[in-house]
Amino acid sequence: MNLDFQNLTYSQIFILAFGFIFAILLLLSFYIKTRANKKFRNLSGQIVIVTGSNTGIGFETAKDCALNGAKVILACRDQKRTQPALESINQLCPNQAEFIRLDLGDLSSVRLFVNEFKSKYNKLDLLINNAAIILPERNLTKDGFETQIGTNHFGHFLLTNLLMDQLKAAPQFRVINVSSLAHTFSTIDFDDLHFEKRSYKQFEAYAQSKIANILFTINLQKRIDQQKLNGISVSLHPGTVRTDISRNQNPLFRVLYTLAYPLFYLFSKSPNQGAQTTLYCIHEDFDKLVKGAYYSDCKKQNFGNKCITEENAQKLWDLSTKLVKL
Ligand SMILES: NC(=O)c1ccc[n+]([C@@H]2O[C@H](COP(=O)([O-])OP(=O)(O)OC[C@H]3O[C@@H](n4cnc5c(N)ncnc54)[C@H](OP(=O)(O)O)[C@@H]3O)[C@@H](O)[C@H]2O)c1
Repeated sequence: MNLDFQNLTYSQIFILAFGFIFAILLLLSFYIKTRANKKFRNLSGQIVIVTGSNTGIGFETAKDCALNGAKVILACRDQKRTQPALESINQLCPNQAEFIRLDLGDLSSVRLFVNEFKSKYNKLDLLINNAAIILPERNLTKDGFETQIGTNHFGHFLLTNLLMDQLKAAPQFRVINVSSLAHTFSTIDFDDLHFEKRSYKQFEAYAQSKIANILFTINLQKRIDQQKLNGISVSLHPGTVRTDISRNQNPLFRVLYTLAYPLFYLFSKSPNQGAQTTLYCIHEDFDKLVKGAYYSDCKKQNFGNKCITEENAQKLWDLSTKLVKL
């Protein structure tokens, strides 16, 4: 077809413009999805815990670790929902995955999990704090914390601290905290962590919990360094990933999500693609990872919020120690 660019009809201009925009979108979509981890370590003999690994990014992370030889503990709150994940990993790599129940929204469950883990394993090489929840309505955990910060931060805070002896017993250890770009959207309110004084907004609460993940990472690394331990702690954003993290949203949200799905599909990652930055932090040479840093797309990135400071990291650590009764 010969096009006379000076005498294009409106429909020809429309088709050309549409084609051009579509090509740009496809290129952008390709760019978003293809930044993958390229290095793999042999993890034979290593013990790995992945929280929230029955589904989504956590499942892909656990599967990769098992495929690379590690013994993987699926630290999940529901045995029935974890069974398919457990079976699918063990079919690929017999006896390399094990379920131990962990409900991060219940500190007594965290303590039980750690007791069971300690009775079976005397070291821990990799702790992947991946689980998280987003809740549209304000809710409290068994211990009285707002559920998002309670699950996403306080549960992981206690878990990591109680596992410190096991981490120290590994020749080298990594604590990888799955945060989110959502940490840039809000702030952390130390005077009202549990939304008792302000009105509850789910994405503010989620963002606050994801800020907490980064602050926790920073102070944990400081402690690791002060004690001259051979360990590293990093946080990361996995990208926008097509998982079921919005499972608790109201029906209207679900309808809108379904309608927007074709566009969302173009600009989001599959769970396996979403696991790539976690895998990068697992497999990259220990000396090449930046201690305490925040990663996205398999690269170190700057923190995206001015409330991310060493002072706030210390403040959150002190408060968390008190609240989880460490
Ligand atoms: N998807 C995204 O676009 C995106 C973007 C940025 C960051 N992230 C982060 O990526 C991580 C993984 O999320 P995902 O997208 O893979 O979501 P997901 O598929 O919903 O997985 C979340 C996991 O957390 C578990 N979990 C929730 N509450 C728990 C509790 N009280 N105790 C133990 N486990 C609990 C869930 O278990 P149940 O199945 O029992 O509920 C599930 O296994 C999260 O930290 C999330 O904040 C995701």
